[in-house]
Amino acid sequence: MTGTRPATPRLDGPRGVYLRNAWYVAAWADGLGATPQAKVFLEEPVALFRDADGIAQAIGGRCPHRFAPLGNGTVIDGALQCPYHGLRFGTDGACVFNPHPGGAVPKVSVPVYPLVERHALLWIWMGDPARADAAAIPDFAWLSDPRWDVVRGQTCAEGHYELYSDNILDLSHANFVHPALVASAFTEGARRFWQDGETVHAHYAQPDDYLSEGISAILGTAGRKQAFDGHVVWQAPATLSFDFRTGEPGTPFEQMGNMPSLHAFTPETADTTHYLWATGRDFAVGDAEFSGAMRGALEYAFEHEDMPLIRDAHRLMAGRDFWDLQPLVLEGDGGGIRARRQLRKMIAAEQSQRA
Ligand code: FES
Ligand SMILES: [Fe+2]
Repeated sequence: MTGTRPATPRLDGPRGVYLRNAWYVAAWADGLGATPQAKVFLEEPVALFRDADGIAQAIGGRCPHRFAPLGNGTVIDGALQCPYHGLRFGTDGACVFNPHPGGAVPKVSVPVYPLVERHALLWIWMGDPARADAAAIPDFAWLSDPRWDVVRGQTCAEGHYELYSDNILDLSHANFVHPALVASAFTEGARRFWQDGETVHAHYAQPDDYLSEGISAILGTAGRKQAFDGHVVWQAPATLSFDFRTGEPGTPFEQMGNMPSLHAFTPETADTTHYLWATGRDFAVGDAEFSGAMRGALEYAFEHEDMPLIRDAHRLMAGRDFWDLQPLVLEGDGGGIRARRQLRKMIAAEQSQRA
């Protein structure tokens, strides 16, 4: 995992507008052990920790005393102890212990965020806890299914999270940004975009073409034309799946080999994004060398090719609204634009309910 940076970014005051009643990916579940974590989601400090039963919990990350990051504390008797003066907070957010002589337990509490461990991920709900329905968590069962071998990563990326959704929904950038990885299927193949309820789809197909050198080497298809089929699915606010199927030309869709991917973008601030990604395969399962090569190629593509471009684009936007900049819309934007409009609609609906 790459992307080392201070755990707590500077928070200059609320700048972004977010969908709150939604599930966001908080972290890889096995990345949260006995040591708590200090995070920021949607510009709010959050402490992640495991309670006495090992159940992952999320509470407000700013101590009400002198505002130290609770996520940098320690778990004692199932409660989270502040790293500064030792107040402890329980899983209901209430202060449960004051270590100072004669000090009563103050009647204070920090917020509690619903947190669900599912499919190797921790999903957090930053809105009204009463509306958190775990049934609405997107299905990524393959992430924790032993029939799939999964390579994955996590980083914190500079740039607005919607720019990152755009990047996955518009794979026409492939030839220009990732020449070694995917070649022409996504830049030159047939594309189709559509919306199904609140879900946005982007579909790419190329029936008979060479895969890139990198992918053909991984799949053992060097020198042979292949059929490929790529299907991106976006779910609000910014969770995307990408099924990448290949096979000999003419192979029926169901018989094509599939490499499913997750791209989850969770806003840290209006300028920074937690990026968790994973790609699975149901062949060469258990082959560590294969996994290493695949992880290296994907990490390079996402973190050294996509991220710097998006970071620079974000900087050039200089805090201005996407639509105010009157972006040129190309044919490949059919997914990204639908996703942006859908998210905007959902945020507006949520805000009007609250008003
Ligand atoms: S800042 Fe947390 S106990 Fe003082
Ligand atoms: Fe990319």
